[in-house]
Amino acid sequence: MCGIVAVVGSREAAPLLLEGLRHLEYRGYDSAGLATVHSLVSEDQGQLTCLRAKGKLINLAAMIDQNGAPGNLGIGHTRWATHGKPEECNAHPHRDSSGCIAVVQNGIIENHRALRETLEAAGVEFLSETDTEVIPHLIAKELHLLKLEGLPVCEAMLLTAVQRVLPKLKGAYALAVLWVETPSALVVARRQAPLLIGLGEGEFLCASDTPALASFARTILPMEDGEVALLTPLGIELYNQKGDRQKRSPSLLSGVNHVADKRNFRHFMLKEIHEQPETAELWVTRHLPEGLPADAPVALPFDDSFYFGIERIEILACGTSRHAALVGAYLLEQFAGIPTAVFYASEFRYAAPPLAPNTLTIGLTQSGETADTLAALAMDAERRENHGDSAFAPRQLGVTNRPESSLARQVPNILDIGAGLEVGVAATKTFLGQLFAFYGLSLNFAARRGTRSKEEIFSITQELRSVPNQLRSLVKMHDKLSEELAHKFADTKDVIFLGRGINYPIALEGALKLKEISYIHAEGYPAGEMKHGPIALLDPKVPVVSIAMPGVVFEKVLSNAQEAKARDAQLIGVAPEGPDTNLFDYLLPVPKVSEWISPLFSVVPMQLLSYHIAAHRGLDVDQPRNLAKSVTVE
Ligand code: AGP
Repeated sequence: MCGIVAVVGSREAAPLLLEGLRHLEYRGYDSAGLATVHSLVSEDQGQLTCLRAKGKLINLAAMIDQNGAPGNLGIGHTRWATHGKPEECNAHPHRDSSGCIAVVQNGIIENHRALRETLEAAGVEFLSETDTEVIPHLIAKELHLLKLEGLPVCEAMLLTAVQRVLPKLKGAYALAVLWVETPSALVVARRQAPLLIGLGEGEFLCASDTPALASFARTILPMEDGEVALLTPLGIELYNQKGDRQKRSPSLLSGVNHVADKRNFRHFMLKEIHEQPETAELWVTRHLPEGLPADAPVALPFDDSFYFGIERIEILACGTSRHAALVGAYLLEQFAGIPTAVFYASEFRYAAPPLAPNTLTIGLTQSGETADTLAALAMDAERRENHGDSAFAPRQLGVTNRPESSLARQVPNILDIGAGLEVGVAATKTFLGQLFAFYGLSLNFAARRGTRSKEEIFSITQELRSVPNQLRSLVKMHDKLSEELAHKFADTKDVIFLGRGINYPIALEGALKLKEISYIHAEGYPAGEMKHGPIALLDPKVPVVSIAMPGVVFEKVLSNAQEAKARDAQLIGVAPEGPDTNLFDYLLPVPKVSEWISPLFSVVPMQLLSYHIAAHRGLDVDQPRNLAKSVTVE
């Protein structure tokens, strides 16, 4: 995982690197570091400063303030630990034994053990437990050989050394390298991990993602798989894997919202929960304008060919996105009548189902950067292209909150959920945005296929139009109610979340939200499954949150809740007020809406309850331990 940023130009690199890293902290915040080269010593030799700090970027910033990091050439890194604990010794950049070469990397070098053993046998001493550290040592070895071959020290020498090392690395990487002997040269490379070159004024940059470049570059050049580039103040040389020079025009960098403002909220997560009525409003304005034709009740950016002949849908996603996908699958199957399956992207990569014809594969990722989702989509496209029969050809859609992300560069059709920047690691408003995307798709598929009457479709679209206002009062009310309830449950050790049908994924989401930000163990189950084992967990100390929304399984969920109550569990109900729901010890009331749209409401108390429990426990809600906003390693 991790985020990297690099710059070569005419101004001080350190402030620019720090600013870039600030926008990459969503990729990890276990440690941060930078290396700069200052070319004061002589015309052609630099002085390397390397600073690394455990924990968040703020610690690195303090270190830079204290020590300084002069130079116009620099590389920076924010880490999510994979190999080696989140300690300073494992923080990037990593250097060779002479301390003259520094490398930052995102990804995993899978053959690092074998490479390390060979290097150690040759006398190299390692200072970290990381996979990355093999890279500077290998580059040093190649530079030494190039010198022996009689090559004069020059920028091309560093490029050649890196080009010789890359084929030795197995796995995924995006990396940036600098060398004190070439104080105006930066070499960058990528394979299966994103890296973009930014063209600034008098400087060239490179970063894992666009927000890190947005303040400095007007145009970008996304690097393609296997490419390596030499960046100097004079320009960019880009090469493919075979070593052939590549020429491509950069594209305009636009639409990147990188301004993170907490407004008056205590945490970003709380602000983002409160922004959900706005997310809903925006979606309704954009996608449900009046006067749309009956066969396309939702305005989506696709023509007829997109919907034509689809017999099956497969959705690939991780975490919260997978929960949204499960709601989506319910809608696509039960409302629009299309067989739909949801897969953990990480499982699909290695155990995909047999190929089915006329299948739409949807990659659902709010960040558009989740490595497993991107790789699963790529694998699926490849196996379909290789099939030969046009019925099996890839038909892919990406649903994301980041239309400028890696996902958008990978799949031909993109549906932007338009939820705006989400900073809190726990996804909230993007989840709501994803649900809306599935309402749009399901309504359009149902209308085209004639699986639902015009009246049914009209009634759902009308209900969706009233969601923003209903959400407005719901969020306000639950913010207060959940805060009160949080005091009672803040010391709980285990919580069970129950739901059924379209609200079963909301139970899963409620459990995930609680786990990730409050560190309380929680499980989500389909309510009818409790009696097959999990009911044994119940006692007065294990609260049960039961989502009971009127619809086909309403009475069933209430009976399942009764079964829990009979085992002395404390019952928290997420249900409309009324005589039916008197059985709950605590009620988190939600409006009585049609079951189809009920997840848009039932998820709000889940988010707020988790938030207030975590805030009450004094935890780092926006950047919980061990997590990252975007999981960019396998
Ligand atoms: C959400 O609260 C989680 N932090 C996490 O499960 C997340 O949903 C998952 O990593 C997928 O992210 P994506 O939507 O960016 O692909």
